[in-house]
Amino acid sequence: MGRIRPLLAALGICASVAVATTEHVGKAAIHDLGLQEWTVTNEYGNITVPGKFPSQAHLDLHAAGVISESLTTQSDQRVKLTRCRYHGLNDFDLRWIAAQNWTYTSKPISGLNKHADTSTWLVFDGLDTYATVKFCDHIVGTPDNQFRQWFYDVSSLLASCKSDPVLSINFGSVPRIINAINASDDVQHWPASVVYPFEYPNRQWVRKEQNDFGWDWGPAFSPVGPWQPGRIVQLSKGGELYSLNTAIDVFRKGQFNNFAPDQTAPWVVNASLDFVGTLPKHASMSVLITDAKDSRSVLYSGKLEGVAQSDMTVTGSVTIDAEKPKLWWPRDMGDQQLYNITVSVSSPGSETPLLVSSRRVGFRTILFSSGNITDAQIASGITPGNNWHFEINGHEFYAKGANLIPPDAFWPRVTSDRMNRLFDSVEAQNFNMLRVWSSGTYLPDWIYDIADERGVLLWSEFQFSDTLYPDSPDFKENVAGEITYNVRRLNHHASLACWMGGNEFENLMLPIAQGADPETYPYVLGQYEDLFIKTMFNIIAANSHSISYSPCSANNGWMEIDLDLPVPIVERYYNTTSGHIYGDTDFYNYDTSVSFDTSAYPVGRFANEFGFISMPSIQTWQQAVDPEDLSFNSTTVILRNHHYPAGGLTRNIHNSTLGQVEMTLAVERYYPTPDKTDPVANFSSWCHATQLFQADMYKSEIQFYRRGSGLPERQLGSLYWQLNDIWQAPTWAGLEYDGRWKVLPYVSRRTYEHVIASAFWNYTANDLEIWVTSDLWEPASGQVSLTWVDLKGEPIENNAGMPKSVDFHVGAINTTQIISTNISSDLKIPDPQDAVLIIQLTAKGKLPNASNRKITTFTHHNHFLPVWPNQAKVTDPKLKLSYNKSTEKFTVEATAGVSLYTWLTHPAGVLGFFDDNAFVLRPGEKKEVGFTVQEDTTGGKWVEGVTVDSLWDLTTT
Ligand SMILES: *[C@@H]1O[C@H](CO)[C@@H](O)[C@H](O)[C@H]1NC(C)=O
Ligand SMILES: *[C@@H]1O[C@H](CO)[C@@H](O)[C@H](O)[C@H]1NC(C)=O
Ligand SMILES: *[C@@H]1O[C@H](CO)[C@@H](O)[C@H](O)[C@H]1NC(C)=O
Ligand SMILES: *[C@@H]1O[C@H](CO)[C@@H](O)[C@H](O)[C@H]1NC(C)=O
Repeated sequence: MGRIRPLLAALGICASVAVATTEHVGKAAIHDLGLQEWTVTNEYGNITVPGKFPSQAHLDLHAAGVISESLTTQSDQRVKLTRCRYHGLNDFDLRWIAAQNWTYTSKPISGLNKHADTSTWLVFDGLDTYATVKFCDHIVGTPDNQFRQWFYDVSSLLASCKSDPVLSINFGSVPRIINAINASDDVQHWPASVVYPFEYPNRQWVRKEQNDFGWDWGPAFSPVGPWQPGRIVQLSKGGELYSLNTAIDVFRKGQFNNFAPDQTAPWVVNASLDFVGTLPKHASMSVLITDAKDSRSVLYSGKLEGVAQSDMTVTGSVTIDAEKPKLWWPRDMGDQQLYNITVSVSSPGSETPLLVSSRRVGFRTILFSSGNITDAQIASGITPGNNWHFEINGHEFYAKGANLIPPDAFWPRVTSDRMNRLFDSVEAQNFNMLRVWSSGTYLPDWIYDIADERGVLLWSEFQFSDTLYPDSPDFKENVAGEITYNVRRLNHHASLACWMGGNEFENLMLPIAQGADPETYPYVLGQYEDLFIKTMFNIIAANSHSISYSPCSANNGWMEIDLDLPVPIVERYYNTTSGHIYGDTDFYNYDTSVSFDTSAYPVGRFANEFGFISMPSIQTWQQAVDPEDLSFNSTTVILRNHHYPAGGLTRNIHNSTLGQVEMTLAVERYYPTPDKTDPVANFSSWCHATQLFQADMYKSEIQFYRRGSGLPERQLGSLYWQLNDIWQAPTWAGLEYDGRWKVLPYVSRRTYEHVIASAFWNYTANDLEIWVTSDLWEPASGQVSLTWVDLKGEPIENNAGMPKSVDFHVGAINTTQIISTNISSDLKIPDPQDAVLIIQLTAKGKLPNASNRKITTFTHHNHFLPVWPNQAKVTDPKLKLSYNKSTEKFTVEATAGVSLYTWLTHPAGVLGFFDDNAFVLRPGEKKEVGFTVQEDTTGGKWVEGVTVDSLWDLTTT
């Protein structure tokens, strides 16, 4: 689909949660701005409401009842019940908020120390975006980047302030400002095709979350406000310091970004603290590293060496024996061993620290490898070209996961409960990696903390996507501040997997730019290299030895890396040899006639985006849409489909309808089409049918990519588009806005089991192959049972001529074919419309886990229909559902026929997911299914609202 890309969602209460990284601050006095009283006033002075800090104007206006996301009018009782939701067409109706400035004003701030020996600083961890900061009626700064930390010395202003000072922050209307920048003669103008607007135009000029201006899966609210915590810091000039940011780099001695480190080399821990205050010359640094779960277990304690200091930064390092620390591993590959590190800075000869900073780190190396395929790799059967994969602690592994988009259009209401629920759903899908896609925000530390603990690698990107960006000196300087701050802030997290400069430049925007204007292309390419390679890579290399860098997320790898070159990474671009394989794939095909044709899928080293949109469930639609709008073709439902994007600020029914049509055609092509008399039931069935298509299509692609791990392309990762939703709408998401699972997560969970058996059907020739694929790090063996039955559940004679069971042996991260047949000529299926192949795998092998060397049994279930589901002669399976209070499990039984896509639904009011869903049941087969409850507001009553149905029920009333 080109230029579109995404994030995630959970339903939350309006309360904001901001968890700042804790800093020891000696005796510095900290006044949290969240504890002051605030008002928010619009530009015309005719709206004033109480404000929070951190917050955004939309949230405070909502809390005050000025705007409502509720189902009906403000006077209606339901307002209170419906909490924070994106109602109806608020995406369009609330544009008046983004069209004006909003000012956050504090009450006079009391309790500040005005002594001459005190210095006073304003410190903001994030202001969104164009702000005029006034303290005691004087402008102290005009920050202009959402992603930076801003701090100001207000000592003399406070001293001369006649009363308790007022702090006010005037946030400019971002659309108005970027339109004005764009209208100026001084700025560069690109062809429209490379600065395409989703909704609000001109986002390339502002360092603000790019999906705030619309995306093909989200709304365009362009919110403003103090979105991160802030504080007033007071320091005694006698030597107190305040720590602004801390970079900890843990790497193997001799390691350099993008190159495989020596796994036997000792570890180096480098600590670098940014501060305000005056640090005496010849300061000393010491460090204490302990087990994060047991402070008595000390890994290292002592002085740091090579201490170097400047006005704002002090740095030192220590070497630790190679074997001493226990390694951190991603989940399923070993333990998530973490260590707490506390760095103290003291004046010479003093033991009393002036500055103390603590972080939690892991000892691991993570390489993003995208250099040339070596001769040794070619000798092992890998096609020449470039690598494109990750290595943890020196081991290649298969990356399984999805792309994370912002969980909400309003970050201050994203709670740690929501994110923890989201990570539950990540682990439950058997993922080991998420891609933090590049046009939301840099995630706060507390989300990386969750990932560190759970062992989920976060492929992280700088926040640039799907447009060309300027490289004027001002813009570059602003970006350099942003990158430096975030690289230093996040470097210590064990889950940080890589940095990439942005999304879809080399595979999409540069080729579009070249096509649009070949004459200016060399200049445009030069700008790209200046900003995304020279500027950014030099900053990474100066601040981190441990993290690899790639200038963008979809490309053909690099040919040369050398900091002394004018452009320190020489990208391969399209300098390719036919028949060789380079880089990753970013693949969308909305022609559903080939959705299950594997010959139409791309062959690459890694699939970082692929997918198709589906509708959320009726339960999720009901959160956001009035009852009369609950139909597939209501204006509200259509306009919430942003695939395809409006391309401007008007309501573009035409473009939105194209997406609805794609889903409709997909269902009509392959699935029984719902035609129920009850309109809401019919809408619900249609929504579900779009999810069946989505899940089957992703399964087909994931199986294809995983099989590639053992083929000459040596394919080593697949991350589907997109994990989560930012609101309630038709999108590529697996998880709906409040975290409810679509069909896809259940199917991706199965397809990302370690050892899987998959059917590959060439439906034109009617060839069928079955392959076993494993991502274990050692060979595994087992059996696959293959059982042909008709749709009444009766065995097909002689198992249709297929062996009932096949033994297999599969290599480490490899694949093996166990069946190759032709359904028409080799098999004897009396009626292909009345047949299904049940595939059950059992394998024995070892988890890639150094601390668990036990032989583990792995199982996987799958099925294959020799026709499309809408041709299958499905009968009513007469499903029975019961719930056992003591085991807390549901039992589902098919009593009269094979149940395809057996589907348990939980009611609204409970959040969580079933152990299994969308499975096949044969008559007489009873399946016990548990449910992981994440949040229950029904007092347990939800179990009575659980229902079960299957493909049979899609069309029957
Ligand atoms: C506030 O003033 C503006 C400009 O005069 C006007 O357009 C708007 O309707 C007013 N809003 C309210 C709530 O009075
Ligand atoms: C709105 O904000 C912009 C950017 O900070 C500022 O330049 C402008 O003066 C503000 N206008 C008003 C009326 O507050
Ligand atoms: C390690 O640090 C974390 C905060 O990052 C803290 O919650 C934890 O208690 C510390 N562990 C020990 C054993 O003190
Ligand atoms: C990678 O291969 C290209 C040819 O495709 C070659 O020009 C380049 O020098 C190679 N790089 C390295 C580091 O070997």
